[in-house]
Amino acid sequence: MESITGKESLRELLVDWRRSGDHIALVPTMGNLHDGHMSLIALARQHAERIVVSVFVNPTQFAAGEDFAEYPRTLQRDARRLKQAKVDVMFAPDVDAIYPYGLESATTVHVPFLTNELCGASRPGHFDGVTSVVSRLLCLVQPDVVLFGQKDYQQQAIIRRMVTDLCMPIEVVTGPTQRDPDGLALSSRNQYLSDSERAAAPTLYAALKEVGEALETGSEDYTGLEAAALATLKAAGFQADYLSIRRADGLGPPGRDSDELVVLAAAWLGKTRLIDNIVVHI
Ligand code: PAF
Repeated sequence: MESITGKESLRELLVDWRRSGDHIALVPTMGNLHDGHMSLIALARQHAERIVVSVFVNPTQFAAGEDFAEYPRTLQRDARRLKQAKVDVMFAPDVDAIYPYGLESATTVHVPFLTNELCGASRPGHFDGVTSVVSRLLCLVQPDVVLFGQKDYQQQAIIRRMVTDLCMPIEVVTGPTQRDPDGLALSSRNQYLSDSERAAAPTLYAALKEVGEALETGSEDYTGLEAAALATLKAAGFQADYLSIRRADGLGPPGRDSDELVVLAAAWLGKTRLIDNIVVHI
């Protein structure tokens, strides 16, 4: 595996691969790799001969007061895992390589679709930061396919919209959420949880599943189901930002004609914000 920090060295390698007709997959990450990321890499292998994993803690997607400074940075360990997984390139640029004109005057890619609701309502500017960095990574790597995890359901939906709207010739693939045996979705932020918070954390997935089961058995009382799940979370010590039932495609409000729904939630346990979702076929 090559570990690359500079854009030029990356470009040279990509030119060689394209000349040989290899397909390229990009897995964008902020590092601190866990089995969720590794499952995306395994999925990437089904789509391309060459795999690039970017490791970049993107400052523009953290609002003031969020955990940018504390976000776990484990580059050496990440490099070892990626090497074992036979990834071709770990691309770990510094901030200047991605934002050469500085953060204040950086070009922003704004996708109006969905940006200010759900997670966007409680994290203003977050998705602009995500689309701004992902568009740069896509321009740099020009992959055939880019992969994201389903845990960040809203993120992948916004990126899909951006890719279509900007006519990027790239396939977006979403890989399934990976979970601990008790159901907690894998996330770099899980390591912030205290022992008692970790014990309470699986209630988030349990609450989503309960809503999912009610929807599968025909309930259309969306507001009632959301309220009951929010009460379950509160009783387990969570402070919820939202819990919402939406159409899986496009995240609009559910209706009689919907056959695939997604139940999404974001909730705080102490100082840790967890997100999760489940897709429900009805
Ligand atoms: O999902 C993440 O880890 C980040 O939002 C991403 C897509 C790597 C952009 O920084």
